[in-house]
Amino acid sequence: MATSELFLLSWPPSRDQIRLIPLLAVLYILTRSIYHVYFDALSAYPGPKSWAASDLPRTSHLLKGDLPYKLIELHKKYGPVVRIGRRFLSYSTPDAWNDIYAKVRPELSRDPKAFSPPPNGVYGLGVNPSDTDHSRLRRNFSHGFTDKALRGQEPILTRYFDSLILKLKEHCANGPVDLSKFFNFVTVDIIGDLTFGQSFDCLENSALHSWVQNMFDFLKGFVIIGVCMSNPPLDSLVLSLGSKLFAKQEEVHRGFVRERVAKRLQMKDTRPDFITYAQSHLDTSAGISVEELEETCVSFTLAGSETTASLLTGAVYHLLKNPAILERLSKEIRTTFSTEDNINMTSVTSLKYEHAVIEESLRIFPPVANQLPRITGPEGNVIAGRFVPPRTLVSISQKACYSSAENFRDPDKFAPERWLGDEYYKDDRKKALQAFSVGPRNCIGVNLAYVEMRVILARLLWNFDMKLCEESKDWSDGTKVFMIYQRKPLMVELTPVAMD
Ligand code: HEM
Repeated sequence: MATSELFLLSWPPSRDQIRLIPLLAVLYILTRSIYHVYFDALSAYPGPKSWAASDLPRTSHLLKGDLPYKLIELHKKYGPVVRIGRRFLSYSTPDAWNDIYAKVRPELSRDPKAFSPPPNGVYGLGVNPSDTDHSRLRRNFSHGFTDKALRGQEPILTRYFDSLILKLKEHCANGPVDLSKFFNFVTVDIIGDLTFGQSFDCLENSALHSWVQNMFDFLKGFVIIGVCMSNPPLDSLVLSLGSKLFAKQEEVHRGFVRERVAKRLQMKDTRPDFITYAQSHLDTSAGISVEELEETCVSFTLAGSETTASLLTGAVYHLLKNPAILERLSKEIRTTFSTEDNINMTSVTSLKYEHAVIEESLRIFPPVANQLPRITGPEGNVIAGRFVPPRTLVSISQKACYSSAENFRDPDKFAPERWLGDEYYKDDRKKALQAFSVGPRNCIGVNLAYVEMRVILARLLWNFDMKLCEESKDWSDGTKVFMIYQRKPLMVELTPVAMD
């Protein structure tokens, strides 16, 4: 049979034509790979050839939960910019922060394919793909996050800080305590109160509320959905099947949010929380809709609890692995205050060493370890001094950025003194650390996070001596990341100390 005959359109295809399909597929993949590795617009960027040829290597590490660690390796080998996909660049250099995340008018947009749209099509803050809608929402919610709002929220926060200490005292009498869990309980309860006007009672019940637990569990599924959304035709499969497969869970989830938000909106008093201002502008042209409010409340719960809890767990682990640092911090806290009541959001700002410990913990165990990709515009963009072609995904890899010896001397060492002007660390590029990101979509809750981290750590060390249990001595090794860290229990022996 002449070759030309093989390609003649006929139905049904002949046996010979069917036999050719795998060969053609291999040929297509090979040609496409050679094109991406050697000839496309990103081919001059360094990186492993297999990652340039196909998105499979990156996707497989994403699905294994070890991508942030793999990216550390790749940046060590290839330098501050690495090609990690057919159209994806990863950065570990501080200049890239502003170029990627702080550019306005137009912003580098989020990858619209990274998430499936909410079933009702209404986005809240967080992953909103529209810059205009995002800034309208941000204006409405930012009032709940100012210093003034935070001062008004202090009595609410203090109630949960008191409750945390009380619960830890109760539990530690029975043996070692999983601090990782308790940090989740306190941060989830606080977010519940400031978002829905009602605690999730995690501390009270010493268990995570089932709605929150379900959301955390589902984050692994989000990673899979994100992969499908970026790989047609799997995206159509997710969009058509996803809503059917998860219809029941989705309805339970939505029903819960609707009910909690409705309850909050019925409250007559003006609470100093995240909602009051937005509530007074509900359904106005510059304001927000109830659906946007509901979606944003979900974002607050996810973004505002797990992150702070991760940081606190990481900080305590590294303190326990470094007894001299723990001792210095305990001494600072125990000599600065005369009673526990004096430890509050204003007084903790005088704790210079504690601040350095928190910065170093954000560096060595950044709560947002996954990437936050943006897409370059239709004309391309200059990032870290070099032109990047249009429609390229670009992202700082926080773990790689903070583990780079070009940015931080002895990057694997937990050394709070690098934030205190120590001569040995004078060449550290401090601006590389941006754990809360920069620009119009940076963390809205940064001030609240610092208050929680500072007061909780200070009150923990005021009240307890701590010892790491044997089973947790390698706690941070290989912690998987599926959107958030899959943290193992951090088992600690707590011994109450009588300070007052
Ligand atoms: C140590 C604690 C925290 C860290 C490290 C952290 C980090 C971040 C980062 C890196 C982003 C940018 C995400 C992106 O570009 O997609 C972000 C956004 C956000 N964070 Fe946080 N966060 C923390 C605590 C909080 C808290 C306490 C809240 C309180 C509600 C919060 C609420 C949010 C929200 C709503 C966004 C989306 C903002 C927007 O799109 O305008 N975060 N956070």
